Amino acid sequence: MALAQRKIDPTAEILGRIERYWDYRSSEFSKLRRLELQSENAAQWLKLLQEHLPTGGALNILDVGTGAGFFAILLAAEGHRVVGIDMSKDMVHEAKKNMLAAGCRAEFRRMNAEELDFPDEYFDAVISRNLTWTLTDVMEAYREWRRVLKPGGVLLNFDSDCGRTVFSKQGQQSCIHATLSREMLAECNAIKDELRISTHHRPEWDSKFLRSLGFSVECDSNVAPLVHRDQKLRYDAIPLFAIYAVK
Ligand SMILES: C[S@@+](CC[C@H](N)C(=O)[O-])C[C@H]1O[C@@H](n2cnc3c(N)ncnc32)[C@H](O)[C@@H]1O
Repeated sequence: MALAQRKIDPTAEILGRIERYWDYRSSEFSKLRRLELQSENAAQWLKLLQEHLPTGGALNILDVGTGAGFFAILLAAEGHRVVGIDMSKDMVHEAKKNMLAAGCRAEFRRMNAEELDFPDEYFDAVISRNLTWTLTDVMEAYREWRRVLKPGGVLLNFDSDCGRTVFSKQGQQSCIHATLSREMLAECNAIKDELRISTHHRPEWDSKFLRSLGFSVECDSNVAPLVHRDQKLRYDAIPLFAIYAVK
C-alpha cells in the first residue's frame, strides 16, 4: 500500500478513541443516570431548563450527547418532542432502555454532534450537558447547533472547564470515575489533553465564540449548587457553567 494511503487520519483516530471510551463507560454511567432521574436533582434540573426554554406548549428539542438520556427523558416526560443523539451506540442503547423504564417517548439516534442529520431551523431548543469538553471541534458543533435552531430558538449548554483538571479516583473526587479501571481513567485524561477545547478558558471562550455567530448570550459561572443537591451522587467539585444563548 502506498505511504499516503497508510496515513492515519488524526481526527478519525481520536473520534474512534472517544467512542470506545464512552461505549466502555455506558453501563455504569447509565446506572448513575437512573439514580439521578430518581433523585431531587432531577426536579432542580427541570426547573432550571424550564426557566430558559421558550414558553408555550410542546417544543422540538435536541439533546446533543444525550448519553443515557437524562435530559431527553426529563423533558419528554413533560410532553416535549425530544430527540437525543449520541456518538456511542452503547449509550444510545442505554438511553432507549432508560426511556422505556421511565414510560415516556423520545427518539434516540447515533449521530456526531459536529455533523447533524437534521434540516435547518428545525428545533426550538438545542440542549447539552457535559459534552463539549470531549468534542474534537467545538466551533463546528456550535455552528451546526445554530444551523438547526429556529430563529429565536435557544441553546442551553452546561459544562465545565475540564482542560486543567486531572480526573482521578482519589480523595473527595466524585463517584463518577469510581468504577473506572486505571487504564480507562488514564485514557480519559489522555484524550482530554489532546483536545483543543482543553486549551481554552471556559465559559468565556464559548460566550465569545457564540456571540461571533450572532447569538445573544448569558452565562452563569456555576450552577452546581442549584442542581447537585443529592450528596449521594457526589459530583466533581469543579464548577458547572451554564450558557443560555438565543439565536
Ligand atoms: C459525560 S457524557 C454526558 C451525557 C449526558 N449529556 C449527561 O449529562 O448525562 C458525554 C457523552 O457525549 C457523547 N459524545 C462524545 N463525543 C460525541 C460526539 N462527537 N457526538 C455525539 N456524542 C458524543 C459520549 O458518547 C457521552 O455519551
